[in-house]
Amino acid sequence: MVIISGGDEYSPFTSKFYSKEALAEYLGDSVNENEPVLEYLFEKYNRATPRDVRRYDIIFYGVTGYTGKLVLEYLRDVYAKKPTEFTFALGGRTESKVAAAQDAILKGTPFADAPIVTAQLDKPYTVKQLVNSCRTVVNLAGPFMTTGGEVLAEACVIYECDYCDVNGELPYTYNLTRLHDRARHNRVRLVPNSAFAGGFADIAAFAAVRKLKEKHNKPARSCTGYIEQSISELAGPSGGTLATRAAMANAPDSVKQIMADPFGLGGRVSGNRPEDSDKTLSTVAKDEVGWLAPFNYAFLDTRVVRRANVMHQLMGGGLYGPVFNHQEYILCPTEEIAQEIKKRAGSTKKEEEDLKAKGRYFAQGQGPSMEEMKGSWIRYTTVARTEDKEQVKLVFNFDVEAYYATAQITTEVAICLAMARDQLPYAGKGGVLSPSVACGQMLVDRLLANGMSVSVE
Ligand SMILES: NC(=O)c1ccc[n+]([C@@H]2O[C@H](COP(=O)([O-])OP(=O)(O)OC[C@H]3O[C@@H](n4cnc5c(N)ncnc54)[C@H](OP(=O)(O)O)[C@@H]3O)[C@@H](O)[C@H]2O)c1
Repeated sequence: MVIISGGDEYSPFTSKFYSKEALAEYLGDSVNENEPVLEYLFEKYNRATPRDVRRYDIIFYGVTGYTGKLVLEYLRDVYAKKPTEFTFALGGRTESKVAAAQDAILKGTPFADAPIVTAQLDKPYTVKQLVNSCRTVVNLAGPFMTTGGEVLAEACVIYECDYCDVNGELPYTYNLTRLHDRARHNRVRLVPNSAFAGGFADIAAFAAVRKLKEKHNKPARSCTGYIEQSISELAGPSGGTLATRAAMANAPDSVKQIMADPFGLGGRVSGNRPEDSDKTLSTVAKDEVGWLAPFNYAFLDTRVVRRANVMHQLMGGGLYGPVFNHQEYILCPTEEIAQEIKKRAGSTKKEEEDLKAKGRYFAQGQGPSMEEMKGSWIRYTTVARTEDKEQVKLVFNFDVEAYYATAQITTEVAICLAMARDQLPYAGKGGVLSPSVACGQMLVDRLLANGMSVSVE
């Protein structure tokens, strides 16, 4: 079992914070006089604020974007009724844009005057100020591969602030895994993929494997996720998602190699098993649940769950089995539909043409409205199986589209981290963790209390 970690060498924040440019910006012209002395002063006046006296439980960074605004809608819809449950500030890189989003969505609610905090990801001092004023940061600024959010994540490790984000980009999560050892040492939880893509498969697998253990008292040999979605005619990808897909498509070969590794985020099971290969995820097949077609996000979700397997074991949970396998597909009513989905899978050109023809090719910052997404739903079936073929089947339902589910998941992860640190699984331990490893059953329960439902079959 292998996990990825970059030791002390990976330092996106530190290398910027102690750069001559940053020193010059913070200390002015005197920077050329005596660098060691200035570095000393820089350190001295930039100490971490103790966690328990920080101003906010949570800062939501990037609320000006499409997903960020859905987070504001979720806060309005669910937490405006219980405004004292946690304290928060709204963050972004431009104060006036954050204020406009707040005014548009939170006016007339108890959050109309929630404080605003600005930081620029390429200005490390502002990042440090932001991190130092809260106990948990939610990063909603993407595409993650191009915004430099790694700076924010390393600052969280250094200043002992928990972190989650909505990224659905394996290369970004991979970069964060290089901070794992330091996060573990500082007992900080970095929780990338706290979103529908990358995160929900993990939450569902955790719940199913846990049920399997309860029922049969045996470890899981495998877990398969089956997704069905109905999206309304006017729903579709946001401009931010389209920009993210372009960033992934343009990634250099070295990054594509990591993306093509079934254990690219760690958790490798020994032996070269066909069941772990991406070929298995790319074919049309039939199993006892139905016809299966390739699912684009399976190439991220399977990696997240495979890492979660090893993390649960290393942190003392040992929930999954040592030879555990995870797979994920789109569940289809017929073979013809499965073949059609396979034909379209990965064709960004065709998708672009279709969206443009419908006038739904959104620019960054835009996407379908909540009204346009009405009627969308997601059904996610997870089957966990033992070596002896006993199984548990859980069927999760959301009456919303994946973007709103993402807003819900990331907010609930942040609340778990900020408000219940001592009651979370593996209390006192940190690292780069999936949502299920970081928040366990508490997260499942919070999602069930706020709109998601589940049935056991
Ligand atoms: N995993 C999932 O299921 C899932 C679901 C939804 C979204 N996402 C991901 O979330 C990200 C955002 O998507 P979106 O549709 O909300 O995009 P968007 O509408 O374009 O919003 C992007 C946000 O990021 C901020 N931003 C961009 N570049 C930045 C930089 N260099 N420094 C600081 N902030 C920066 C923007 O701030 P300004 O307003 O100041 O430009 C804005 O707040 C994408 O990466 C998307 O793939 C993932």
